[in-house]
Amino acid sequence: MPTDPELDQTRLPRHVAIVMDGNGRWAEQRKKPRLYGHKAGASTVREIVEVAGEIGIEVLTLYAFSSENWKRPDGEVSGLMSILQNYLESELSRMLSNNIRLSCIGDLHRIPDGVRGVLLDSIDKTKKNDKLILNLALSYGSRDEIVHAVRKIADMCRQGILDSGDINQDTISDNLYTSDLCDPDLLIRTGGEKRLSNFLLWQASYAEIIFTETMWPDYRKDAFLNSLAEYQNRERRFGKTGAQLRTG
Ligand code: IPE
Ligand code: IPE
Ligand code: MG
Repeated sequence: MPTDPELDQTRLPRHVAIVMDGNGRWAEQRKKPRLYGHKAGASTVREIVEVAGEIGIEVLTLYAFSSENWKRPDGEVSGLMSILQNYLESELSRMLSNNIRLSCIGDLHRIPDGVRGVLLDSIDKTKKNDKLILNLALSYGSRDEIVHAVRKIADMCRQGILDSGDINQDTISDNLYTSDLCDPDLLIRTGGEKRLSNFLLWQASYAEIIFTETMWPDYRKDAFLNSLAEYQNRERRFGKTGAQLRTG
């Protein structure tokens, strides 16, 4: 288990969410095709999942493919899907031996049958694991997720199960794909862009956010530990004053 002296084990984020961005530019900088960057990105995923599990993060949500990414060229989309399938097939045994539970958020109907089959199989085979939850955001868009939740809530009202006057923040949270997860404490985006790109808009309302210039394939263990150390230097005030927090 890594014992980074910088890290306070009692103040780790429970849920870390990452926008894994920069694979394409990383490859282009090396005069390689974009898929070369996506393959290198899969190797970073392996390393970050391992470190997150070892240090005791409860939930790691990785933005792997957005609802908007379907607009990319067909070759890139199918390449990404096969990288995902290879990743899932090669990592199942490691997930089982490292007590990792796989979960997934997003519109899975759009995912090709073969990939979806492997995904659902891995989710099922790891469902009793209780160390790290590896939550993959696939074909995920936060606005679609909110629309989906609103439809479910509207149905409950129509059926008389729920009174519209009783709708509160928990009702919304409970009907999102993330209903069984705590909200992210830390949201990291690699690759230099400073935007959320439709990721966890509701859930990240009080997440600490770190934007790093490092491209995802280069964002390895040390970079991740640095982000966790930076998180621990932040004061999470949740609307209060700093003085209020320090006097308890
Ligand atoms: C992130 O890397 C991976 C996916 C969106 C699937 P990009 O492919 O967006 O890489 P850049 O931003 O073009 O460098
Ligand atoms: C966000 O990255 C989605 C993922 C990392 C999966 P993009 O590269 O698609 O984001 P934009 O389009 O630059 O905002
Ligand atoms: Mg990008």
